[in-house]
Amino acid sequence: MYFTSLFSAGIAALSGLVLARSLASALSIPGTAVTSLEPHGNAFVSLPQFTALLNKYTSNHIQLLPYFAFHHPQDTSTVYHRDDRNRTIGIDFADVNRRIVRSLRFEWHFHLENKIDNIIVEDYSVDDQPTLVRVMHAYGYEYPMVYWIKSKQGLVDCRMKGQGEYDTMYVRLVHEAKFFGLSNVSAWDGSSIRLVPGPKIDSASTF
Ligand SMILES: *[C@@H]1O[C@H](CO)[C@@H](O)[C@H](O)[C@H]1NC(C)=O
Ligand SMILES: *[C@@H]1O[C@H](CO)[C@@H](O)[C@H](O)[C@H]1NC(C)=O
Repeated sequence: MYFTSLFSAGIAALSGLVLARSLASALSIPGTAVTSLEPHGNAFVSLPQFTALLNKYTSNHIQLLPYFAFHHPQDTSTVYHRDDRNRTIGIDFADVNRRIVRSLRFEWHFHLENKIDNIIVEDYSVDDQPTLVRVMHAYGYEYPMVYWIKSKQGLVDCRMKGQGEYDTMYVRLVHEAKFFGLSNVSAWDGSSIRLVPGPKIDSASTF
């Protein structure tokens, strides 16, 4: 009896491990690994763990992995606003009652053709601070090397190592003194506006 239960506990632990491993691979992105960079050595961070941390830090507004994108809140429809050069200057997300619950605003660079300078993500339904993205461009560089995401949680400092289409990105959560290295991240071109399914905006706080 004793041995049997030990044995089945061992099987349970083993299948737990196998499950965890297959979950991890289901959630993994080819070639991307997140490493926490510590003064006394580096530690592996799972993608779900990193994504959860980043979602918290950006108020569920922005995705970095596998590519830079904005969350499209569940159960909302989009209305695009464009300028006279047909560039997107705003996207409104309306709920089923046609109330705008979130807006994205894009400010385009004055000199550089087709590069975004500033982005504001604002949830109207909750008493929240907007999330701001400030993009630093350099002449002759296709991909912005640095951008800052400032939310009510703090500042996220994102830096690309080089100009590769896939490159290493360094992410610093400034107010938590956390620093991560992300390998093989699809570099944002500073102009594409991509939406990915995001969580529903908490209706309890809707006005
Ligand atoms: C980087 O990611 C891309 C897209 O996910 C993948 O096709 C490529 O094989 C990866 N490269 C490396 C070196 O892992
Ligand atoms: C403006 O851009 C959108 C999206 O790319 C496209 O569907 C639309 O046809 C464009 N309009 C004009 C007038 O070029």
